[in-house]
Amino acid sequence: PAMDRSESFDPSFISKMKKMGRNVVVFYGSQTGTAEEFAGRLAKDASRYGMKGMVADPEEYSMEDLTKLPDIENALAIFCMATYGEGDPTDNSQEFYDWLQEGSEDLTGLKFAVFGLGNKTYEHYNAMGKYVDKRLEELGAERIYEQGLGDDDANIEEDFITWKDKFWPAVCENFGITSIGEDISMRQYSLQTHDDIPSEKLFTGEPARLGSTRTQKPPFEAKNPFLASITVNRELHKKGDRSCMHIEFDITGSRIRYDAGDHIAVYPTNNSELVDRFGQRLNADLGQVFSLNNVDEDASKRHPFPCPTTYRTALLHYLDITSCPRTNVLKELSDYTEDAKDKAFLASMAQATPEGKELYTDWIINHHRTLLHVLEDLPSVNPPIDHVCELLPRLQARYYSISSSPKINATTVAITAVLIEYTTKTGRHQQGVATSWLKLKRPTDDLQPKVPVFVRKSQFRLPFKPSIPVIMIGPGTGLAPFRGFIQDRQCQRKDGKPVGETVLFFGCRHEDEDFIYEDELKAFLEDGTLTQLHTAFSRDQPEKIYVQHLLRQQKDEVWRLLELGGHIYVCGDARHMAHDVDEVLHDIVIEHGNMTREKASDYLKKMRSRGRYSCDVWS
Ligand code: FAD
Ligand code: 2AM
Repeated sequence: PAMDRSESFDPSFISKMKKMGRNVVVFYGSQTGTAEEFAGRLAKDASRYGMKGMVADPEEYSMEDLTKLPDIENALAIFCMATYGEGDPTDNSQEFYDWLQEGSEDLTGLKFAVFGLGNKTYEHYNAMGKYVDKRLEELGAERIYEQGLGDDDANIEEDFITWKDKFWPAVCENFGITSIGEDISMRQYSLQTHDDIPSEKLFTGEPARLGSTRTQKPPFEAKNPFLASITVNRELHKKGDRSCMHIEFDITGSRIRYDAGDHIAVYPTNNSELVDRFGQRLNADLGQVFSLNNVDEDASKRHPFPCPTTYRTALLHYLDITSCPRTNVLKELSDYTEDAKDKAFLASMAQATPEGKELYTDWIINHHRTLLHVLEDLPSVNPPIDHVCELLPRLQARYYSISSSPKINATTVAITAVLIEYTTKTGRHQQGVATSWLKLKRPTDDLQPKVPVFVRKSQFRLPFKPSIPVIMIGPGTGLAPFRGFIQDRQCQRKDGKPVGETVLFFGCRHEDEDFIYEDELKAFLEDGTLTQLHTAFSRDQPEKIYVQHLLRQQKDEVWRLLELGGHIYVCGDARHMAHDVDEVLHDIVIEHGNMTREKASDYLKKMRSRGRYSCDVWS
């Protein structure tokens, strides 16, 4: 993996490009691997135009070297930049972002293009891609093609290939070159099987360093997770067929510190029966030890996931086997069938034509077909397992808003997670990877299951001064971080601090079913920690009642608290709720502040930038 760095690693991508004879460098800002994958594909594409590409992680190189790129003949820098959370850069592009913001380097002569990866569900759609595109131009660089914007809420693969298909001709025109090859599929990794590797050299699921889960050494972070014991795993729903879990992790001895509002990430394991089914369908020996090695020996990323390992480990721990395959995967699969009809079908779904897109959206997305489902439904398609392992995306850690306060117990981290379960249009029962796996992790008197976790700091914080009033809006599992906030404020009150008003808006379907933490919330109300609790039970009456309806009813109160300098927090569903709440807040500010809509927007924007209006939302 990318982490085996020798002492001699050269942080100059320029000298590396010169040494390896490359003229295209593709940087990626990636959190979940999609931007990194797109970068790899662009670098590979370059060879079709007689150029030579290389992928680079901005975190590993001195980005000041961008000023020297024009020294290389016909050089081009491409940026695949994902936006994370509330318009933030990804972890690996944070430094590059800071450098762009602070620096005033002269980038004259640098040719560049940007593809941004974002999600329209979120407020700051593609903020990072847009910023990099604008800033590079401001610094004097030459944009050789308009930036592309991918929307992960729709079909980001389609956005990418649509952009790429126009981008390369523009590159050719700019550099005066012609395409030399047709669209040949080349593998990025070659298979090596091993028969004599000692077991201690095998990766068994550790995300990066060999043996990191056997010998635990702090500091614990994404590449070195802590194995936390699950001490509590209980059901929060009182009845009904859905499930919401309250889980507590013991982080004793980890030196991990957290604050209410932070997130904890969990590395899940895929369902082993599903993995067996996969192995059978691919006719593979899952116990076989193998490595996938980058055919580009100079690439800093040597393997797509930690190798050597077994196919079973790869499918259990490293690969996402349950999401919908992207179109490039279908295209590669079409090579592995002799059946003309199936071949044409797969190829047509991968085509960037309106018919192809429609077919793909219907057959794959709307029917939620995973790669296994595709193979089950098209029995003539028989790809080798190593190619499948190359094509599947990495299995991602799942984030949860921490629902406890360290002030109550600094070595306990709680989460509040809803079990994902649904039936697809093809009649298949699907379960969420992490939540169905966590559901089975029940502690007993003798055994506390351990799971790999790390904590990610967030900006979602109570006001520095406890006397400042807070309004929290969190329906469903959106309540999670507020449980931690309220616990914090309760401790501050017990310590004799003056604590401001604490108002909570919570919503769920039925009062007697999914009103989670009801007793705790009522106790907080009783002891005065919560000064107001507004509950919206959406399905207990004929018409829907949601948190934003109650917020509107309480508009005088909301305005009063805002005038007192209060903070607003919104947590939960990014798709609808957070927008609807934002609308109501606009209306309140317009009415009580006597403002135009534009002024009200400015007012709320200012609140956001001052940390007085924060969202912790996901889709
Ligand atoms: P996955 O295997 O990832 O499956 C989820 C996918 O299944 C969805 O993306 C969708 O494609 C599909 N799907 C789900 N339902 C349906 C349906 N009805 N029909 C068709 N397809 C469907 N979750 C919490 O429960 N509590 C939290 O406090 C919390 N906090 C979060 C904070 C952040 C910052 C983020 C980013 C996410 C948070 N989440 C939280 C979500 C959490 O990270 C996981 O995404 C969630 O638990 C599902 O994970 P999973 O592996 O079980 O499901
Ligand atoms: P519903 O499922 O009855 O539509 C937690 O999921 C609660 O949020 C449920 O009561 C759900 O109601 C509600 N909810 C659904 N859509 C919402 C929206 N756009 N705004 C606020 N709450 C919503």
